[in-house]
Amino acid sequence: MGRSPRTLAAVTLGVTAGLLMTAAAPVGAAVRFTPGAAGAGDPYFPDMGNGGYDVAHYDIGLAYDPATKGVRGTAKITARATQNLSRFDLDFRGPLKISALRVDGRKAAYRRTGAQELVITPPQGLRRNTRFTVTVDYAGVPQKIDDPALGVSGWIATPDGAVMLNQPFGAATVYPVNDHPSDKATYTFTLTAPKGLTALAGGDLVGHWSKGGSATTRWAVRQPMASELSMIAIGRYDVVSGRTGSGFPNITATDRAMAISPEKAGAFHRQTADVQDFLASRFGRYPFSSTGGIVVKAGVGYALETQGRPVHDLSRHPGTIPSGDLLAHELAHQWFGDSVSPERWADIWLNEGFATYAEWLYFEKYDGKPVQDSFDEKYATPAGDDLWKPKTADPGRDGIFDATVYDRGAMTLHALRKAIGDKAFFRLVREWPARYRHGNASTADFIRFSEQVSGKRLGGLFEKWLYTSGKPTL
Ligand code: TRP
Ligand code: ZN
Repeated sequence: MGRSPRTLAAVTLGVTAGLLMTAAAPVGAAVRFTPGAAGAGDPYFPDMGNGGYDVAHYDIGLAYDPATKGVRGTAKITARATQNLSRFDLDFRGPLKISALRVDGRKAAYRRTGAQELVITPPQGLRRNTRFTVTVDYAGVPQKIDDPALGVSGWIATPDGAVMLNQPFGAATVYPVNDHPSDKATYTFTLTAPKGLTALAGGDLVGHWSKGGSATTRWAVRQPMASELSMIAIGRYDVVSGRTGSGFPNITATDRAMAISPEKAGAFHRQTADVQDFLASRFGRYPFSSTGGIVVKAGVGYALETQGRPVHDLSRHPGTIPSGDLLAHELAHQWFGDSVSPERWADIWLNEGFATYAEWLYFEKYDGKPVQDSFDEKYATPAGDDLWKPKTADPGRDGIFDATVYDRGAMTLHALRKAIGDKAFFRLVREWPARYRHGNASTADFIRFSEQVSGKRLGGLFEKWLYTSGKPTL
């Protein structure tokens, strides 16, 4: 779900060629079924994602026991084949053990290979363009990922619960998934935990019931979401529910282990609503059906723009809530990164550059500090500094969270603003998220779109700021 128009065009071409070949084959010839690719074709993460199908919906049921750190899960995945499939892969990694696996309700053969491939062979080939379901029952103790360059992600157990954070990977440590942002899908999470714990996720709260010693909470993510933005938080939380000024349900929560006062929790709730409405005045209507934020104690040392409800790990700052500029950063991602997702991970500057630019807009609006001053401060970084070394739009696998992606990304946008003028720039920042809403976009798409909106040739500017190592001249 949610492919970019360019990818769709490529798929259509392939389909046409396939039809021509079918027409030339003798009547009654058997349909050829071939395996789906074991990756989505992202050069930074060749194992991530898979080919041959497109997921529409994940229905994830998870029961968690903080005492054993174990989960029992059922994942029901609804997908559409994009080729005649003899077999296909899901991403699923770590020690979780599968007890049953069915395709369209029938037992299917499977094996697990490589870093995270779950290779599934259904009893019959799956015809292109048909829908199918995969149901996987599994259990075990999920293991988080601790990547030397990209930090901790996946299922992170805490003393009284767990937090799931999946950027750029981690979802596959918890549920079987086509783990690449190019395949977005809707989700439901049905989360069961011992009574007394709160179970949170992104999206809308659609159900809550108790049975015996446990309680179940159901969340629906009704707009397409990349797996890297799926989130679960289970533990002892203080929850505040309300609405933003523009009427979106707003659910904020703070882990009690963070010792955040009710006054501060209230401020976090109100500021979330306030900052979101400010950003909507710049970027256009908020793209999702509910909002909020969660302060966790997970020890990861970062905040994350999980869809509809960002997560802030403030483990090292007990008693505090996120700063306004951090709220602006994570909420800006809802437009830039979440609704408009990168086509490949090399395009992540489109997320982080805009989110950092939103911090600069926040400082201007709330602290009276001109955006130009924020730019000038960063641009004053000496030419020999590492900030200027990586290429903004090709930072490398280990460099996707480098300061270059964030700061030079934001500086690139400001350089664009200077080149095309305020009027065209602020039209662009509204029309870009509208044009690619709930989809994917690449850096090439952004360059083309900027030229269209401004009527200017911008190839030289983007070449200098995005693809050339070294400090750009002004
Ligand atoms: N992308 C996140 C943000 O900008 C931050 C983040 C996620 C991060 N994972 C990370 C930063 C790992 C450093 C290392 O909000
Ligand atoms: Zn960010």
